[in-house]
Amino acid sequence: MSPVPDIRKQFPFITQQSDKIYFDNAATTQKPYAVLESIQNYYTRINANIHRGVHHWSILATEHYEAARKTVAQFIHAQDPSEIIFTSGTTHSINLLADCLSNTYFQQNDEIILSVLDHHSNILPWQNRANKFGYQLKYAHINAQYQIDTEHLKSLITRKTKLIAIAHVSNTLGSINDVKSIIDYAHQHNIPVLLDAAQSIAHFPINVQELNADFLAFSGHKMYAPTGIGVLYASKKFHHWLQPLSSGGGTIVDVDLYKAEFAEIPLRLEAGTPHIEGVIGLKHAIDFIYQNGGINQFYLWEEELRKHLYSNLTELQDDIDIYTDAHTPSVPVISFNIKNNHPYDTGTLLNNFGIAVRTGHHCTQPLMKHLKIPGTVRISLAVYNTLEEIDRFIIALKKTIKMLK
Ligand SMILES: Cc1ncc(COP(=O)(O)O)c(C=O)c1O
Repeated sequence: MSPVPDIRKQFPFITQQSDKIYFDNAATTQKPYAVLESIQNYYTRINANIHRGVHHWSILATEHYEAARKTVAQFIHAQDPSEIIFTSGTTHSINLLADCLSNTYFQQNDEIILSVLDHHSNILPWQNRANKFGYQLKYAHINAQYQIDTEHLKSLITRKTKLIAIAHVSNTLGSINDVKSIIDYAHQHNIPVLLDAAQSIAHFPINVQELNADFLAFSGHKMYAPTGIGVLYASKKFHHWLQPLSSGGGTIVDVDLYKAEFAEIPLRLEAGTPHIEGVIGLKHAIDFIYQNGGINQFYLWEEELRKHLYSNLTELQDDIDIYTDAHTPSVPVISFNIKNNHPYDTGTLLNNFGIAVRTGHHCTQPLMKHLKIPGTVRISLAVYNTLEEIDRFIIALKKTIKMLK
């Protein structure tokens, strides 16, 4: 059964503007009352700095912050809360990991494997360090189903491969990559794997232990939580590699004028006063998911939405090119273009109908170059979207096609 009627009521952005349609959820999701209220509650009743006070509010704030770490650990089935490092988002998580590994693990001429469908946030951090320290980057192709070509990726592995860093789900195409098989193969060669889970975290369950993922990065704002909060999951077995380049208050056990003894992970990596209300908001976003049936329920509803959208779009195939395969496991993210038209024109006209979609390269320029297109129109759905919104969108799209002919 659709969880939507109850869920929609929980999002003020949706209920206060129900004549509009928000289909840009891969960029950021709307926030439920539970998250908004948790932030207000924090500032009105708790506000204090964490980890260093003995007074009531500091202890309370620390308890809320550390409870959130446990909730996140349970949500992705991490073995231990210490494997959850709070960051400002996926981009920060990947840069943090790139710095740590450059500090302790990589050597000149080491090879890092990425894919052509990766988001710039999982290309530029590695490209920057590769240019600075002399690592080699290699890119896996995509297959005809718009997923990372697993066999091609495997063929890139050599004795110099030190890391595979890939998107779990493509933010532009919606396709779910076969990361389990990539991780299993990588581990046979003692290569750790980072999954960029920015686009998977809000759509289906992730179990890092079952996947055997070594590192995983995601952002709160794409899963109903506030902006400015994210997570780097790092399996305990690699904590010794995580020696940060940046440090400061909260990261130490003891400091002398010329040397310091650093704390264990995660505190060693969370320098300075963190985004406390963001962490608390993230916890409440996860609680919101649990309280509304859990991520599996979200997945089932979003599958229904995705199929409805896809079948309606395929009926327009004389006029549009769709960059998604019907049978590829996907999240509800679909890219298309009206034939012979620039995506910006389509996006602008849809905006005039009150429909928010994303247009452009979606921070995946290498993928756009690979597909030989300037960009796409991207529809990305969330649990509060409805079949009726899709129908209204299809009517608006048909009018847009007529206008652009
Ligand atoms: C696959 C993927 N990776 C990384 C990012 C970067 O996330 P953030 O801007 O929250 O750091 C995004 C954002 O769209 C994304 O879709």
